[in-house]
Amino acid sequence: MLSRYSKLTNLLINNIRSISSTSAKCSDNLFVHRDSPEDNPNIPFEFTPENQKRVKAILNIYPEGHKRGAMIPLLDLAQRQYGWLPISAMHKVAEILGLPNMRVYEVATFYTMFMRKPTGKYHIQVCTTTPCWLMGSDDILNACKKNLGIGVGETTSDKKFTISEVECLGACVNAPMIAVNDDYYEDLSVNDTEEILNDLKSGKTPRPGPRNGRYASEPQKGLTSLTEEPTEAGFGLQAGL
Ligand code: FES
Repeated sequence: MLSRYSKLTNLLINNIRSISSTSAKCSDNLFVHRDSPEDNPNIPFEFTPENQKRVKAILNIYPEGHKRGAMIPLLDLAQRQYGWLPISAMHKVAEILGLPNMRVYEVATFYTMFMRKPTGKYHIQVCTTTPCWLMGSDDILNACKKNLGIGVGETTSDKKFTISEVECLGACVNAPMIAVNDDYYEDLSVNDTEEILNDLKSGKTPRPGPRNGRYASEPQKGLTSLTEEPTEAGFGLQAGL
């Protein structure tokens, strides 16, 4: 009887597909907080007077009893003010919303848009998901590493640049692409990438958008569909209607 069970168990083990077939990829971010000289709860954080007005405006959007919905906008505001999101800023947001600190940690550690360690003035996010990868994102990432002399998750010694490798940023039709802070640079070649980084180094603001002559995401060689004149309103309806 026992041997029948062990045979059955072996059969099941050998034939059940593994639930996950992809390797786990670690984020550049550490998901636990470790006190450090530049990030610990004793470093005070306060919103600037200008941002305090913004805090009020953001809170006003949410009805009484639902103010915690303002958490992500407030964390984003704190990050924009400080350059990244220290633990004291999370505590400030918790204080404003009247929530336990843990509720804020849960959100800040979940979304990779929140940088919980010192980040350079220019956050270079290189998309390496499949469409960008097929279009050469490995070369773009290597160009960034070589030009800046740092690896993924690292910051240059002058605190100007941080490189992150990220998942799809929603601009696949313009692959390969990178984001620098809020701007997207698309349809990139290695030369374009170097030019963008060199411009940033010399204090210029490179023009965002596609680099291969496209205006947006239109086909590069003209329209391939919807080429005829649009039909008038009501086209195809029965005459009697
Ligand atoms: S795959 Fe790179 S933007 Fe979507």
